[in-house]
Amino acid sequence: MDEAAQRALLVELGASLFARGYSVGSAGNICVRLPDGFLMTPTNSSLGRLEAARLSKLDAAWNHVSGDRPSKEVFLHRAVLEARPEAGAVVHLHSTCATAISCLAAPGEDAPIPPLTPYFVMRVGRRLPVVPYHRPGDAAMEPAVRAAALGARAMLLANHGPVVSAATLADAVAAAEELEEAAKLALMLRGAGARVLSPAQVDDLLATFG
Ligand code: 13P
Repeated sequence: MDEAAQRALLVELGASLFARGYSVGSAGNICVRLPDGFLMTPTNSSLGRLEAARLSKLDAAWNHVSGDRPSKEVFLHRAVLEARPEAGAVVHLHSTCATAISCLAAPGEDAPIPPLTPYFVMRVGRRLPVVPYHRPGDAAMEPAVRAAALGARAMLLANHGPVVSAATLADAVAAAEELEEAAKLALMLRGAGARVLSPAQVDDLLATFG
């Protein structure tokens, strides 16, 4: 997919996430890896009203080269994409249920959402580390984000929200949606003694679908 197509898809998927309530106000940011750098949502922009020509472009060394000023969370996306060379995109949201779990889970916890359904396991994986709270845009979070990303496709920033990576932008958005659904189910079923997938069932899903 060329850069023009990536820009168009980022605008389309941002609007879709916003329209369905995965992002409100100017919350959330998205980064896409390009052959010569990165595309990033501009700071203080609504995911619902992105403009292809105004997206922030960064070069391969993460210097801002064109478009509006990039998200204050650029270091977060950089840490994930550097730790996961196979990842092509990162989506950070403040989606309600995943953020609720980020407020309930202990920082350092590794699996705050149980493996209730196959698609959560297939899209997000076995691990979902909880990174200790930092103020949004605080680059001091970078080492903890990097460490979390080395062993997991997604993480929760404590009292802040989810960060999800995948091979493509469409896959990262789909994974962020599955994470939000899994968080919603986990909250609905808290204390209800729901059956969860067994370790062998989780192994089978990961062996079959990666
Ligand atoms: P930006 O507007 O700088 O992207 O920040 C929004 C956000 O979600 C902070 O976590």
